[in-house]
Amino acid sequence: PLIKELFGLTELETRLQRSLGLKKVVVVPGDSDRSDWVKKEMGRAVARILKITARPNQVVAVAGGTTLAAAAEMMSAFPGLRETTFVPARGGLGEVVELEANYIASLMAQKAGGHYRLLHVPDQLSEEARQTLVKEPHIQEMLELMRSARIVVHGIGDARAMAARRKSSPGLLRRLEEDGAIGEAFGYYFNRRGEIVHRGRSIGLNLEDLVNVDKVIAVAGGAAKAEAVAAILPVAGKDTLITDEAAARAVLTNL
Ligand code: G3H
Repeated sequence: PLIKELFGLTELETRLQRSLGLKKVVVVPGDSDRSDWVKKEMGRAVARILKITARPNQVVAVAGGTTLAAAAEMMSAFPGLRETTFVPARGGLGEVVELEANYIASLMAQKAGGHYRLLHVPDQLSEEARQTLVKEPHIQEMLELMRSARIVVHGIGDARAMAARRKSSPGLLRRLEEDGAIGEAFGYYFNRRGEIVHRGRSIGLNLEDLVNVDKVIAVAGGAAKAEAVAAILPVAGKDTLITDEAAARAVLTNL
């Protein structure tokens, strides 16, 4: 807390909390675009919040990405999380396995000493195959478990960076550009006004499902994500944002 006061981070937290209409904002020092340890510090903040707020027999749904992967890495064994079941928030979005929500849920559970359940659905399905698969009893059961999540933790990405990382088709890249997509969360792409311009086909929690979730924690740092954070948090954010100093300052000048 003293260090935070010295760097003016507490003031940044209060200003962001007010302007984005959130319950809590945590700003860690530095810029995660420039140094990896800043991403780890955001991860440490996620782990801390999950420990402080843990309840018996809860379900925690986690999304994918490098920031969530850092959060899983920073998790450590905690008695209060022993009865927690970690699940992915969505099925695959076309990422390498280390960045998939499934993998991150299992890693977080192992580190925390809790349980995990995974969603086994391939990424690239035809609409027809998807409809059939969703009707499978074990998939239904898993979807219900995911919808019962008390806490959801997700990252926010820069639209162009995300689409490129997921090797999206040139057609989709062009459409996202034309539609003014600037941010991504949960496989949804948003424009500057926070409107959804594209949604991926993967199955899992939808944005509408977040209404029933007790605590939604968004984690995103680096000045490059400022526009995305400023667009998405006012519409999809509910409770908590964990970010870094570079993103915090850039968001405030963007709003
Ligand atoms: O799903 C991916 C996130 O929206 C952002 O990913 O943490 O690697 O930047 P990242």
